Amino acid sequence: MGEMKKRYLGTNLKMYKTIEETKVYLQRLRELTEDLPQELLELFVIPSYTTLEAARQVTKGSRVKLGAQNMCWEKEGQFTGEISPLMLKEVGVDIVEIGHSERRHIFGESDQEENRKVKAALEYDFTPLLCVGETLEQRNYRISDETLSTQLKVAFHGLDRNEAGKVWVAYEPVWAIGINGIPASVEYVSARHRHMRKVLVELFGEDTGSRIPILYGGSVNLENAVGLIRIPWVDGLFIGRSAWDAENFNKIIRRVLEC
Ligand code: 13P
Repeated sequence: MGEMKKRYLGTNLKMYKTIEETKVYLQRLRELTEDLPQELLELFVIPSYTTLEAARQVTKGSRVKLGAQNMCWEKEGQFTGEISPLMLKEVGVDIVEIGHSERRHIFGESDQEENRKVKAALEYDFTPLLCVGETLEQRNYRISDETLSTQLKVAFHGLDRNEAGKVWVAYEPVWAIGINGIPASVEYVSARHRHMRKVLVELFGEDTGSRIPILYGGSVNLENAVGLIRIPWVDGLFIGRSAWDAENFNKIIRRVLEC
């Protein structure tokens, strides 16, 4: 067994699963993972908004943390279709996912918006899970690191060390995500994570910068999870498709914890 490092393992359910399906999924995941050591694993699920209240009931008193997939930065106002921090507080979520690639690239969210959302999430005591990642075009121009620097610097802008230390980061290369995603190599992921760690240390100093967890996501599955989690700069995995079956997610979790 390697050093006992805390692992962050979570799934984004995207626009999948009804209320009933989410309840069944969470109940099963809860049962399957009940025996796992609390201090070595941060386990979280981010289902759709309409399921959150039911999901909160199923996860209450369990080790499974609950997140929302997005959030407006204002607490109320004329923002049709948006969900505010107050509303998420009322439901009782722990985590707010910010800037997922599908939000940035399908719905056109900017780095500045992600910054406002990170600040609002901190103000309301949620854990912001900030997603960053370069597109295929940016990778081909060899500006992946520059892209990640920009996304991190803008999203963390105006935060002090104490606030920055509460943020979780998920690196998800846009070209590696989803049905048409191409899994990234261990070498590639390793180089990007090392770069992001350097940026965070430059911004917030060694103590805080080295403490902010950086998760990897994009076509993670049972086969490649171990190779990815063994990368020294990878603190956890943020999984889509392969975690939407509770049994399979549980297998990935156990494999990762054995590393
Ligand atoms: P996949 O694991 O399905 O590629 O999705 C990753 C993701 O987008 C998690 O947010």
